[in-house]
Amino acid sequence: MRTVIEPFRTKVVEPIHFTTRSKRRGLLEEAGYNLFAIKAEDVTIDLLTDSGTSAMSSNQWAELMRGDESYAGCSSFYRFEATIRSIFGYRHVIPVHQGRAAERILFGALVHSGHYIPSNTHFDTTRANIESRGGIATDLPVGNDSIDARAGFGGNIDIEGVRRLIERVGAKSVPFGMITLTNNSAGGQPVSLENLESYSRLLEDAGIPLFIDAARYAENAWLIRRRSVEHRDRPVSEIARSIFALADGCLMSAKKDGLSNIGGFIAVKEKHLAERLKEDLILSEGFPTYGGLTGRDLECIATGLEEALEEPYLLYRERSSAYLADHLIQAGIPIIEPAGLHAIYLDARAFLDNIEPEHLPGQALTVELYLEAGIRSCEIGTVMFGRTDERSNQEIPHKHDLVRLALPRRVYSQSHYDYIIEAIENVYRKRKSIRGYKIISQSARLRHFTCRFSPVTDRLPSRNHRFMASARHAQEKQGA
Ligand code: F0G
Repeated sequence: MRTVIEPFRTKVVEPIHFTTRSKRRGLLEEAGYNLFAIKAEDVTIDLLTDSGTSAMSSNQWAELMRGDESYAGCSSFYRFEATIRSIFGYRHVIPVHQGRAAERILFGALVHSGHYIPSNTHFDTTRANIESRGGIATDLPVGNDSIDARAGFGGNIDIEGVRRLIERVGAKSVPFGMITLTNNSAGGQPVSLENLESYSRLLEDAGIPLFIDAARYAENAWLIRRRSVEHRDRPVSEIARSIFALADGCLMSAKKDGLSNIGGFIAVKEKHLAERLKEDLILSEGFPTYGGLTGRDLECIATGLEEALEEPYLLYRERSSAYLADHLIQAGIPIIEPAGLHAIYLDARAFLDNIEPEHLPGQALTVELYLEAGIRSCEIGTVMFGRTDERSNQEIPHKHDLVRLALPRRVYSQSHYDYIIEAIENVYRKRKSIRGYKIISQSARLRHFTCRFSPVTDRLPSRNHRFMASARHAQEKQGA
C-alpha cells in the first residue's frame, strides 16, 4: 500500500474549540499580541509546541495504575532506569521533572563564569541556564548564518568552528561540548552520525566531555536512516545506540520523544558525576528514585520512550510533516526544506518581505495565523533571540525570522492538516496588507514568553533613506 496511515485508532476524543474572527481580534489585543498569553480554550489548532502535548497510548494510560508511588526505591523507577539504560547505554539515570531541570542541575555542577559551551544551537532554556551561571553559550551551526538543510543534515555542528574555539579560549575554558538532536532552533534539522563522530573525536582529543540534548533523538535517528545510504538498513534503535556511544551522557526532555506530558532525565557514564548531580537533585527535585515525578509518570515515560522508536510510528510522523510541507511548497510558501519531523518552519522574513526585520515579521505571522483560523504557532527569530538596542530602542534582528508550526505527536489528523494549509494559503494571499509589530514591554531573560507588542502603523524609513539621514547627520557634525 502506498498510503501511510496513522498506526493507531482513536479511543478518547477531546473537543476542539471554535471562535470567531472578531472574538480572536479582541483576545489578541488583550494578550498584547503574544500567543503565549492566549488561553488554550481559545485556540482551534495548537501548534505552539510539540512538548508535553503528545497523546498517550492505551498502554501508557494503563501504566497509570501500575505506578508505584513509594517515596524511595519505587519499582517504577527501576523500570524507568532499565529502559533508559537499554536505549541510551548510560549506567546512571537521574529523573527530573522536565528538560530544563536537567540543564540547571548539570550546568550547576560543571559551568563556571567565563566557560564556553559550544553546540550546534542551544535551545533557549539551555542558553539561559548556561548564561545564568556566567557561561557563554556558543552556537556553531554548520553553514553559520544560513540554514542550508538541502544537504540533508542542516543540524550539523561546524567542526572547524569548534576547533578554532578550543584553540582560542583553551580546553580548560570548555568544560564540555553539547549538541542538540534534532536542531530545534535551526529548522528542526538532523545531525549526521559522521558529524557526531568528528565532534566526539575532536572533544575527546582535547579531553572535553560531550553531552547530548536528546529531546528529539528518535526523530534524529530516523532521519539518519532515511538520509544516509550507509545507515539505510539499520534498525532505528541501533542507530540510537551508535549516537549515544559517542558521548559521556545526555539530557532529555521526555516531553518530546518520550511521548509523555511531563518528565525528563539526565543519564551519564560516570559515577562520580552522577553522585554530584544527585546532591542537587535531592535539594530541588526530589529523592533520586523519583526526581520530581510520580511513579506513574516514570512508567508512562518508559513506555513512551519505547513507542517513540517504533518504526511504523516514525514513518507516520515523517509522512504527516511531509504532507504539510509538500502542500505548502506547492503553494509557493517559503519554508525550511527539507522538513524535519517535529515541526514545519515558515520563513517569515521571506513570507512577509514587505515587513522590515526590525518590525518582527515572525511575530506578525503568528498573530495573523491566529486571527485567520485560531491556529497558534511560535516565533523563532528576533523576538526569541534578538534584542532591543538600548540607545535607539530599535530591535536588533536575529539572523533569521522563522515561525514554527510544531506538530504534537499522535494528535492531529489529515483534515486538521488540510485546515492548516488552507489558513496559511489565505494569509499568504493577503500578505502585502499585513503590518509589523514592536515590543512595548519585556523581561530581561526569555522575553518571548511574556513580552507585549503593539502593531506598528508607520513603516521604517527605507534603508536608503536611513543611510542618507545618517550621512547628513555626520556632515552636520563635521560642520559643527
Ligand atoms: N532542549 C530542547 C532541544 C528543547 O526543545 C527543549 C524544550 C528543552 C531542551 C527544554 O525541555 O521544556 O522539558 O524543560 N522545548 C520546547 C519547545 C519547550 O517548544 O521546543 P523542557
